[in-house]
Amino acid sequence: MTAEDKKRAAAQAAVDYVEPDSIIGVGTGSTVNHFIDLLAARMGDRITAAVSSSEASSERLLAHGIRVVDLNEVRKLDLYVDGADESNTRLQLIKGGGGALTREKIVAAASRKFVCIADDSKLVETLGAFPLPVEVIPMARELVTDALSELGGEPRLREGFTTDNGNQILDVHGLEIDDALALETAINQLTGAVCVGLFAHRPADVLILGGDAGVRTYTAD
Ligand code: A5P
Repeated sequence: MTAEDKKRAAAQAAVDYVEPDSIIGVGTGSTVNHFIDLLAARMGDRITAAVSSSEASSERLLAHGIRVVDLNEVRKLDLYVDGADESNTRLQLIKGGGGALTREKIVAAASRKFVCIADDSKLVETLGAFPLPVEVIPMARELVTDALSELGGEPRLREGFTTDNGNQILDVHGLEIDDALALETAINQLTGAVCVGLFAHRPADVLILGGDAGVRTYTAD
């Protein structure tokens, strides 16, 4: 089974969580792209609308005829489906490989249930081998870089990349994240840092991993 097959299998399983005539939150990335395509194929016009976490996902949703609405119009969502770059067994995540972490965190915060979909290579014992993305206001880039170095990481600017919010991304290498809650809190305190792609205070509620033997589903303890 290829990684794409595994992602598609996880995405397919996530479609079962979608209620007809609902408004759902939709994340970003290659796994979510499968989810959007499968959702449109299965649910057709029985999806009322979606709140999207990126311009790229909005385009794909609209291409399938799924209406995209602003989060401010709906305030709360029952379900959010998104991918991840890493997950541990507590369903704490690293996200933001695609650079959409801030909007993803906002939609996750507004959602009662967060279903994370991925291929099984994303499950790790300790978060941090995947460089941790931090979105920064451009004028604070070096200030935040120094602060992240003091926290023990090696921040590197994601060259030539601007987020949907007009900001930059620092990818923090060399972290072994034993206490994800504490690190998320610490980075949240840094002036000029907009958002860190660590989802520990709001982890996933359900993790669906595609693998050679089919999908495995984990729920938060
Ligand atoms: C986007 O910013 C990310 O958080 C994605 O959810 C994450 O990078 C997973 O992407 P893939 O599904 O492409 O692996």
